[in-house]
Amino acid sequence: MDSKLKGRDFITTQDWSVDELNTLFALAAELKKAKAAGKPMPLLELKTLYMIFFDASTRTRNSFETGITQLGGHGIFLSPDKMQISHGENARDTANVLSRYGDGIAIRHCAHGEGNQYLQEVAEFASIPLLSMQCDIYHPCQILADYLTIREKFGETKGLKIGVAWTSAPNYVRPLSVPQSLILMMPRFGMDVTLAYPPEFKLLPEIEAQAKENAAASGSKFNITNEFESAFQDADVVIPKSWGPLVVTEDHDEGIGLIEKYPTWRCEQKHMDLGHKEMIYMHPLPADRGREVTNDVIDGPQSVVYDEAENRLHVQKALMALTM
Ligand code: CP
Repeated sequence: MDSKLKGRDFITTQDWSVDELNTLFALAAELKKAKAAGKPMPLLELKTLYMIFFDASTRTRNSFETGITQLGGHGIFLSPDKMQISHGENARDTANVLSRYGDGIAIRHCAHGEGNQYLQEVAEFASIPLLSMQCDIYHPCQILADYLTIREKFGETKGLKIGVAWTSAPNYVRPLSVPQSLILMMPRFGMDVTLAYPPEFKLLPEIEAQAKENAAASGSKFNITNEFESAFQDADVVIPKSWGPLVVTEDHDEGIGLIEKYPTWRCEQKHMDLGHKEMIYMHPLPADRGREVTNDVIDGPQSVVYDEAENRLHVQKALMALTM
């Protein structure tokens, strides 16, 4: 086990070097193999992870909780409305107290303009690792799982073209964290990224600028376009998913109105046909079937969405084992 990572926080992949991320991917692959072989890996015996969810979850909660169980430890699900957070207890006190009991704190807090700030505050005062389960800016564990999935499908990732495309899903306003984390990390592993969105769906300017810097540093390409099809053209991997127009407006109804303005931004087989023959379709899930993607694509032979969801388990087990 790489002891240099023990005690480290994980709020964005940007804070970890490519070597450190590769250490994590190597352990994730080993843990995945061990699980398939039925070999116990009790790397976190008697350790406890506190999981605070300000927002709903299916994959994140179950993969973290199952993961720590498989490593011999225990995960505690915490909902802020059942904690003294609901009576105003601050991040400093919550962080200090949980640090006296257990071994890691994981938080999902996606409220725009609040989530990342809360995670940073808990991390500052906690003496145990703070692991992001998604905030308003980053969803780093999702992107770890995405990368592991791509590596499993293609082997070498350098030079692959990945399309990240906005899709129209007006059932609710989703955070910016998935596309932002994708454009930050994938260029660091040599992938060429095309980001496609209608003009109102731009991402945070500082994140787009950092993604450009990451691409320049690794010699890969990062392009932004307002044309849906460009994300698919000659791509190896495509990740079409919705997010809110939060850089332009934080008003909910106005946001939904803007999402409804672009119903043709939906992944269909004709778009999949624009990519390489082996192109894979990815989505972090939950997907709005019919609005973001047609069933023939998400249930079709190019879709790897369940492999991607499974890999959340393996990368997070590696993350917990290395940091806790
Ligand atoms: N992809 C993802 O984070 O799923 P959940 O919202 O279900 O946790």
